[in-house]
Amino acid sequence: MSPSAASATAAAGGLASTAQRMPLIRLRGITKRYGQGQAAFLALKGVDLDIEEGDFVAVMGPSGSGKSTAMNLLGCLDVPTSGQYFFRGVPVHELSRDQRARLRREQLGFVFQGFNLLARTSAQENVELPLLYRGTPAKERRRLALESLDTVGLAQWAHHTPAELSGGQQQRVAIARALVTSPKVLLADEPTGNLDTQRSREIMELLWRLNGERGITVLMVTHESDMAAYAKRIVRFVDGLVDSDERNAHPAGAAAAGAATTPLQGAR
Ligand SMILES: Nc1ncnc2c1ncn2[C@@H]1O[C@H](COP(=O)(O)OP(=O)(O)OP(=O)(O)O)[C@@H](O)[C@H]1O
Ligand SMILES: [Mg+2]
Repeated sequence: MSPSAASATAAAGGLASTAQRMPLIRLRGITKRYGQGQAAFLALKGVDLDIEEGDFVAVMGPSGSGKSTAMNLLGCLDVPTSGQYFFRGVPVHELSRDQRARLRREQLGFVFQGFNLLARTSAQENVELPLLYRGTPAKERRRLALESLDTVGLAQWAHHTPAELSGGQQQRVAIARALVTSPKVLLADEPTGNLDTQRSREIMELLWRLNGERGITVLMVTHESDMAAYAKRIVRFVDGLVDSDERNAHPAGAAAAGAATTPLQGAR
């Protein structure tokens, strides 16, 4: 190889390494301490985690292992005590409170175990809420909320209040609310924790579909291995650290989507 070819190769190699793509999410040495002094408790002890765009990750682990703490940090609902969090290469750990709130509003969707819907408010108005915070005009809010409810199979339930809906339907309204802003990532903390097996499976199949059809990256916490089996990857927390991180060669979601038997349209 001529000297000039050798230096061109070296330069290309250098470029390739500097241009190395950041994953969608990168955590490095994340710690989280709750409380002060004697009462201080280290809930996360130095978490390293990379999540690629389009992944579907189940987060498992014993109670108190730091799963919700990690989800809250990922979702910009809280800040780490130390460590680095990059979202699409942006150092979230260096952002101001307002910048973090904006990132949360624009890129992240949340689903909680308890649905967290406003009780005396229709499904449609619940779904419109994130758009209200964004200042979206009323007509556009309505259109997007109905579209989002349609995605989760609940278009015909738009005017019902949560009390008039089953648990599975309420969770789907909560998912529609998380989706209405077209987030890159859906963070779900035990989304099936309050549901029976059949409703849980419907929620998992919906998440699988959103991941496959919309390319939404999904991170969900679950205690149930049957539900984790839907994911493409299973990350296990133990005692404030990632203890194992495994690819799932045969996600249950793929089999369920192939069978396509689940009635997502308005099933109660
Ligand atoms: N706001 C808080 N103040 C003090 N300690 C907290 C707080 N939130 C969580 N912790 C503690 O941090 C540890 C991790 O809690 P976390 O909620 O992340 O666990 P988890 O893995 O989600 O558990 P579970 O499966 O029960 O939901 C626990 O010991 C918990 O008591
Ligand atoms: Mg938790």
